[in-house]
Amino acid sequence: MSEPIIVSIILPTRNEAGNIAEVIARTHNVLSDIEHEILVVDDNSPDRTADIARQIASSDRCVRVLERIGRRGLASACIEGALSASGEIIAVMDADLQHDEAVLPQLIEAVRSEKAELAVGSRHVDGGGLGEWSDDRKSLSNFANGLARRLSKTPLSDPMSGFFAVRADTFRKLAPNMTGRGFKVLLDLVFASDRPLELAEFGYVFRTRDVGESKLDSAVGLQFLMMLYERVLGGIIPARFAMFAIVGGLGVAVHMGVLFVVHQVMGVGFLLGQSIAVIIAMTYNFLLNNLLTFRDARLKGWGLLKGWLSFNLVCGLGAIANVGVASFLFNQTGILWTLSALAGIVVGAVWNFVMASRFTWGRL
Ligand code: GDD
Ligand code: MN
Repeated sequence: MSEPIIVSIILPTRNEAGNIAEVIARTHNVLSDIEHEILVVDDNSPDRTADIARQIASSDRCVRVLERIGRRGLASACIEGALSASGEIIAVMDADLQHDEAVLPQLIEAVRSEKAELAVGSRHVDGGGLGEWSDDRKSLSNFANGLARRLSKTPLSDPMSGFFAVRADTFRKLAPNMTGRGFKVLLDLVFASDRPLELAEFGYVFRTRDVGESKLDSAVGLQFLMMLYERVLGGIIPARFAMFAIVGGLGVAVHMGVLFVVHQVMGVGFLLGQSIAVIIAMTYNFLLNNLLTFRDARLKGWGLLKGWLSFNLVCGLGAIANVGVASFLFNQTGILWTLSALAGIVVGAVWNFVMASRFTWGRL
């Protein structure tokens, strides 16, 4: 029998073919006297990161690979990796060498000695730093930090950090309350707790990336806001539905714009103009929902065409439901025409959301 595993290192990857071997080697190196396993959680990277990791794993029994297909997302990858880990401590680290692995033993030791149940690598305490960041990214990060600190019970100096170690039993207790949405798994974890976690922080300098590309873009920022929203208001109106409704509202504006140009400016008849506007607005809504609301189930290639067809069908039926409910209320109950219309719109929107979630994006 070999020694029990003390720590499971979770390495989330998306196109890290050029980094994965090096980060595994460095991790082994700093953890040479701690019994550990390494779990690579790859989201079907086109550069075949998973194959490289499996190749390593075939001769290195400390390494395992979890490959996910049809799903994306840093936070959910870390959660699933952590839930399949066997160590008494779970540590999460980026696989692109931007986190300083030399700090890993300190994080682990803090949790192992029970000084803390959560130990975080921070860029905002002594010994920490941001590395080379543009002013834009710095101020965006400051803004998000402030927001996150206000909402979190655990006093994190660097709530955006994705570099931490935590007791596995604490993690497993909190996992059912995590959203798994977006990029910020540490925040997701502390939000899931209704008490502050016992915290230790260690400074590290965020390195610049040499190989590969960052996956952080503005849509990821939006997902972050959605996660915060879910924490505050999610019990009342789910974030996904709120997003879907906002996209729908933008669709109305697009519809009006197109109708104005086609009908008023170009002189096309109203019926044809209205039909053109419906198709363009619906396509616009479909693409925007695909990009934002259902980013984690994004359709591509032929799937995009099939999705577009099913989305049009769902919304067509939604429009019939909308008109049906509104005219029933208006004709049978005699309530105000505005309220009747509004009720129709709400019913249509909920129908569209539920059916499109289920049939267009395969969620729910
Ligand atoms: N499995 C999986 N799925 N892994 C992903 C995904 C995904 O959808 N997206 C990104 N990753 C992996 C990357 O391969 C990398 O190992 C790590 O997650 C971080 O992704 P980057 O794209 O390099 O993110 P970053 O450098 O901009 O973000 C870093 O800074 C944040 C602080 O501002 C990360 O360190 C975050 O963890 C950190 O919170
Ligand atoms: Mn990175």
